[in-house]
Amino acid sequence: MAIKFSRNECIFTLTTKRTAYAFQIAKGKYPVHLYYGKKSGEIKPWDPYVVSFSPYLAEFGNTWSPDIFPQEISFFGAGDFRTSALRLAGKDGNSVTSFDYKSYHYIDGTADIPGLPQARGGEDVKTLCITMEDKVTGCLLNLYYTVFYECDVITRHMELINKKKDDVVIEKCMSMTLDLPNDEYDMITLYGGHYDERNLSRNPIAHGNQSIFSRRGASSPQFNPFFALCDHKATENKGDVYGFNLVYSGSFLAEVEVDQMGHTRVQTGLGSECFRYTLKGGERFVSPEAVMTYSAKGFGEMSRNFHKFVLGHILPEKAVKNPHPVVLNTWEACYFNIDEEKLVAFAEESAKCGFDMLVMDDGWFGARNHDHAGLGDWTPNPEKFKNGLKSFVDRVKAKGISFGIWIEPEMINPDSELYRAHPDWCLRVPGRPTSLSRDQLVLDMSNPSVIAYLKGIFAKTFDGVAIDYFKWDMNRHLSEVGSAALPPEQQCEVFYRYQKGVYELLQWFNETFPDAMIETCSGGGGRYDLGMMCYGWQIWASDNTHPYDRIWMQRSALMGYPAATMSCHVSNPGENEKSLDFRYKVAVGGMLGYELNILRMTEPIKAIMSRQTKEYHRYESLIRTGEYYSLACPFETCYECHYYANEEHSQFLFGLSFKRSAKAGFVTAPMKISLADKNATYRDLLSDKVYSGEELKNGLRFTASGEEYEAILMWLVKE
Ligand code: GLA
Repeated sequence: MAIKFSRNECIFTLTTKRTAYAFQIAKGKYPVHLYYGKKSGEIKPWDPYVVSFSPYLAEFGNTWSPDIFPQEISFFGAGDFRTSALRLAGKDGNSVTSFDYKSYHYIDGTADIPGLPQARGGEDVKTLCITMEDKVTGCLLNLYYTVFYECDVITRHMELINKKKDDVVIEKCMSMTLDLPNDEYDMITLYGGHYDERNLSRNPIAHGNQSIFSRRGASSPQFNPFFALCDHKATENKGDVYGFNLVYSGSFLAEVEVDQMGHTRVQTGLGSECFRYTLKGGERFVSPEAVMTYSAKGFGEMSRNFHKFVLGHILPEKAVKNPHPVVLNTWEACYFNIDEEKLVAFAEESAKCGFDMLVMDDGWFGARNHDHAGLGDWTPNPEKFKNGLKSFVDRVKAKGISFGIWIEPEMINPDSELYRAHPDWCLRVPGRPTSLSRDQLVLDMSNPSVIAYLKGIFAKTFDGVAIDYFKWDMNRHLSEVGSAALPPEQQCEVFYRYQKGVYELLQWFNETFPDAMIETCSGGGGRYDLGMMCYGWQIWASDNTHPYDRIWMQRSALMGYPAATMSCHVSNPGENEKSLDFRYKVAVGGMLGYELNILRMTEPIKAIMSRQTKEYHRYESLIRTGEYYSLACPFETCYECHYYANEEHSQFLFGLSFKRSAKAGFVTAPMKISLADKNATYRDLLSDKVYSGEELKNGLRFTASGEEYEAILMWLVKE
């Protein structure tokens, strides 16, 4: 049983394949956290003690202060001075929040999170629901714990139900609280910006509150919602690591707070700065789903837990089962300068090179000849496509290649027909100027009329057009967040309602165009999150396609997300064959595509690309579904090295890329394929060289020549 309740001690124990999580109901009131770690660890009831200046209830005595014991959920204002997960204001106006334990029940599979993306269930998935109640506001609170046994993942979310007539205002909402018993951790985060996504930061935590967040209405490249805590000595293969994430794509807050006792509180959720919600009588509110995993064997196991979880429960099933197409994307090749004849020629050459799909990027609609106009007008530009979209797409397909198209549904240029017709459909605040970004404004996705309009226009434009792929972009963040469609008391709900509108439209796309895949994007990897992954097959990892930068960007994405989610393009190598080879070897760390002007490529370059696509199709499934092992981290040394292994461990795709800083004669450490069978031999099908399993287990060393663009790729298959 993955979930157990011991009546004597009132202890709930949740177990996954290798981990256990436990809490106790103390005094019939408080859910007290006891344990999260190895399955074999000792779980015992909380031993209460006194700390001066800590508030307590007279009935329980001074050893039971909510400020001291570890909590499963922390409430604001009722004796716990640490950061809170829930703050509610009822009709009496104060924000003191307090709920008492009431009951529990089990659910087979998952509990529904209406309107938000969530992890899918499966045979090994069970949910525990703890119900709490507050007699003052009349609210019920459900805390959900969903156990994904095989992945060593537990997810958490909360649900509030207002049972009375009076409104209750949710002022802060975090999807999970985890109180760890010490403060001996480093915090790992992925920070950055546009063109510079997912730098890896590792810092010891300190007394006080350290957080990552987005106030931008998108999960953002500034901080990815993935983060981890690990012991100070943790490495790829050793040490305790706790990994966290949130199935959400909008503004968020993740906090790590060390208190006076040297305990560490971890929370992630909607926070309070970009969120406030009026819960009317009879209504219910459900938070996004938070994700936790624990590894006793370093970062590698944490990443593999997350990868398994994302492949098994987050990504659409067909995105995991089916090969992802090798696309040729027109953006870096043409920018806005596209038309039918040019792209049909692109399609013809692409098919010859073995690409699966032509993706027509920005510039095909309205007056979109640059980024100052046309956004919002989703009808094909008649000058560029004289016989309409369908006739153009049919011509592309006749070349033997499938077709994808770029859209940015959430945005609008002030210079557009749509804006002229509906200026009130943008996010804005009365009496204040509205900021531009990339010359565009943000549509009010919290307004049902906007969503209905978008469904109508896209249904019309793509009616009968055989589209196989949508690239869904989002190229600015949200400012002056206000909606003309909501009353003043609900204006602080707009960030959250916007996100729900985006999800509704994504869901509609998947239902209306069931044969098309979605690739999401936000100025590159600006919404690289589990929320988006529930709708799309993959995410454009960055607008920065330089392979030297991609080495570290891809490595850090793999901390929390599998390679199947990562769209990686080979961009223009000029006539430099070595550069093309290197770009390819880096790009096959994820899902391959190309982004270059195929009409300008020389015959030798095209011949190499044909070989590459042919080769890639043979081992793509290893990258998409294989287990990932990192052997060298580019943040620590002058090269990156990893391999993907199939389930039977009979095939490995091994990649090593030297950074620009690798000096001539530099020799790597032995790169050990520890999953190799020492009694077998393996053939590298790319070079035809044979290696003994023992040799691979002991590790191969590689020497840098000091020249530019040096990478090794081996596809090792057991004989
Ligand atoms: C963003 C995307 C690019 C491209 C442009 C088009 O920057 O990340 O790949 O689609 O928009 O405007």
